[in-house]
Amino acid sequence: MTQLANVKSLSRMGELEDGSSLSSSGLASGGKPRDQGGKEVDFERRGFLGKVVGGIGAAVAISTIYPVIKYIIPPVKKFTSLNELVVGKASEVPENTGKIFQFNKDRVIVINDNGKLTACSAVCTHLGCLVHWDNALNLISCPCHGAKYKQTGEIISGPQPLPLTVFKAKVDGENIVISKS
Ligand code: FES
Repeated sequence: MTQLANVKSLSRMGELEDGSSLSSSGLASGGKPRDQGGKEVDFERRGFLGKVVGGIGAAVAISTIYPVIKYIIPPVKKFTSLNELVVGKASEVPENTGKIFQFNKDRVIVINDNGKLTACSAVCTHLGCLVHWDNALNLISCPCHGAKYKQTGEIISGPQPLPLTVFKAKVDGENIVISKS
């Protein structure tokens, strides 16, 4: 009986020496780690999960940042470019007042001088401030650096290099119509 146990023990040691059949130490036949295939699957799973989490994170970041950027950057206004345009009601510019309207891409000041309408660009040719009608002085004035223009856009005084661009204005029914000069 003791001899039989010794033979089994020697047989087992032989198996251990060539390393091909060990089962209790974590080695499979051929000397490879038994769970190597499992680790590869685990690494693949981790890589996949990492990509999924990264993708979700990127989607969340984009969905958060996009509205902020859209809020900060104003949308590009698309202007039509018509030769003639109804810009408002005649009642909006009572006698001896001036009001700025949008005409295509231009800001235009319409002046009602005792019932006679004139119109010219409302953007000062010095540094681009919006002008206003000064009825007391009967001229167009720029509040930024004191440029003065005639009602017809010509320069009276100030640092501006150019006169104001002139437009045509008329009353059509109850509307004010501006057209290119
Ligand atoms: S911007 Fe009008 S005077 Fe300077």
